Amino acid sequence: MTIHIGAEPGQIAETVLLPGDPLRAEWAAKTFLDGAECVNRVRGMLGFTGLWNGHRVTIHGSGMGMPSLSIYANELIRDYGARTLIRIGSCGAMQGDVGIRDVILAMTASTLSTPSRGIFRELNFAPCADFGLLRAAADAAASRGLPHHVGGIYSSDVFYDERPDLNEQMTRHGILGVEMEAAELYILAARHKARALAVLTVSDHLLTHEALPAEARQSSFGDMVEIALTAAFA
Ligand code: HPA
Repeated sequence: MTIHIGAEPGQIAETVLLPGDPLRAEWAAKTFLDGAECVNRVRGMLGFTGLWNGHRVTIHGSGMGMPSLSIYANELIRDYGARTLIRIGSCGAMQGDVGIRDVILAMTASTLSTPSRGIFRELNFAPCADFGLLRAAADAAASRGLPHHVGGIYSSDVFYDERPDLNEQMTRHGILGVEMEAAELYILAARHKARALAVLTVSDHLLTHEALPAEARQSSFGDMVEIALTAAFA
């Protein structure tokens, strides 16, 4: 047990999928894993471990924002030995040619700040995905015929952003979408020699103000789980 995870040693798999929402973790585990067992309930942050095609997998909520994700990713890596961590979540699109429901595979994650800022101080560290996972996820998305984009995203500290000028600069520099967790996940993976990737679906569009209809959210989430699992064991 750790401060935030109630699992016994050995109850967490080396491969962990991290949706933001704990109820999505439960849905994904019950839908995609054989013999899924709940291994964490502390603070309602649900985690499940089971088998996918014979491989052990844990699907654990990360919460919203980098401070929350940092707590879970630190404990999963340092205390439970997680080695492959894949965020599955939503993002807002920032380019005209990225559509609602498209999949974005985050090659890099720019930020203004992360919980690791104190370590880097004046250095602008460049958080990036594991190339093997990224390539396998792109192959998995292509083979399923899912519209997908590979490139840079922006991990923001705020959902209700009072500085639209920052979003404009991100768009101008080719950033595909905005979310709130990937950069810190990539930094922690780099620090602990683990593999990380963020697989995201576009839930809303910052330029057109379209949003993904509620009924499409579940199926797009399922697509991300399949891409992430296929990439993890490619
Ligand atoms: N901003 C930040 N995070 C998000 C967004 C957004 O527009 N959409 C989904 N996650």
